[in-house]
Amino acid sequence: MTILVTGGAGYIGSHTCVELLNDGYDVVVVDNYYNSVPEVLNRVEKITGKTVKRYECDIRDREGLEKVFEENTIDAVIHFAGLKAVGESTKLPLLYYQNNVYGSVVLFEVMSKFDCKKIVFSSSATVYGNNPIPYKETMPTGDVSNPYGRTKHFIEQILGDLYRSDDQWSISLLRYFNPIGAHESGLIGEDPNGIPNNLMPYISRVAIGKLPQLTVFGGDYDTKDGTCIRDYIHVVDLAKAHLCAVAKILETTGIEAYNIGNGKGYSVLDIIHAFEKASGKKLNYVIGDRREGDLPAYYADAEKANTELNWHAEYDIDKICEDTWNFQTKNPDGIK
Ligand code: NAD
Ligand code: UD1
Repeated sequence: MTILVTGGAGYIGSHTCVELLNDGYDVVVVDNYYNSVPEVLNRVEKITGKTVKRYECDIRDREGLEKVFEENTIDAVIHFAGLKAVGESTKLPLLYYQNNVYGSVVLFEVMSKFDCKKIVFSSSATVYGNNPIPYKETMPTGDVSNPYGRTKHFIEQILGDLYRSDDQWSISLLRYFNPIGAHESGLIGEDPNGIPNNLMPYISRVAIGKLPQLTVFGGDYDTKDGTCIRDYIHVVDLAKAHLCAVAKILETTGIEAYNIGNGKGYSVLDIIHAFEKASGKKLNYVIGDRREGDLPAYYADAEKANTELNWHAEYDIDKICEDTWNFQTKNPDGIK
């Protein structure tokens, strides 16, 4: 079985490639390396002892994608390629619609042309907006506050329309909660360019001395310690959810959404303390203002993925922090 992984050199994509290869799948990666480097795929090969066939290609490049499908028999696609910085998306919305939405449409058209109708899509818990917690797949989606989140909602809707137009499609929408952590080898992990937007890479860079101080965005929320609550999930657990989803779409048709989270909420201070324990370092942080657009608290009801995909998160927050710190200390300057 051959799986095409778009965005396979990225953070979640690379961890998923490892799990696919370890499970015996052949993997073809398409990535334009906008937010990653080819070396990541060399490291995936090193971890697994297997080869990743790779194409430097933008998913908006129809001819390039068609070549990939001509040269390989693709059984299913896992579609990670996309831009993900919420703040940037509010400044450059058209770039986000062009890259994420238009790019996805080109991909779906090329898949249709080559009669490949099985896809796992990287969606996000952000599609739930302001719903009661825990979030369930049956809740309404689309009340989203930023263009990035809207691209996820729109692509989910497009895939829904596609299935309603042709019931041979088999589509899995994975709504990720907050993926953090790194592969236990320390060879791959989250390596954002510039100053990180997200909590864990920021903490990690403060701990290693690359950034002076973490600002906790808000200490006056109506939560147990005043800081925001999120559902943090180990990236390897998340990667394994893709294997379960692929197994499912290969044997069925239909469209289903699944929450991929731990089902537990941790505060920003919980994460800081777990990281201090894992790294043995005292973290320099201050409580600052709230960040615009942040919701006080959300976490997953992951029952549907547990029962229908037979997927369960294995790793706790301590293991997540240990693996993050291991990756950070082994790659103080990131992956070059
Ligand atoms: P990432 O930036 O590390 O990986 C995305 C990869 O896609 C990168 O390698 C990038 O170079 C590539 N890419 C981007 N646009 C492309 C294009 N037009 N053509 C080809 N390649 C392109 O991000 P990630 O954290 O691994 O996220 C993967 C997916 O999961 C994204 O779609 C993201 O929106 C979604 N997601 C991520 C999170 C998270 O917290 N990391 C949460 C929810 C959903
Ligand atoms: C963010 C996005 C979400 C996206 C996800 C993955 C927003 C509003 N949401 O989720 O749409 O799917 O990233 O890209 O941007 N925090 C600090 N200090 C920091 C950084 C973060 O206190 O320097 C706090 C935040 O307020 C939040 C928590 O840490 O409570 C997690 O933040 P982050 O890692 O950015 O993820 P989300 O905001 O949950």
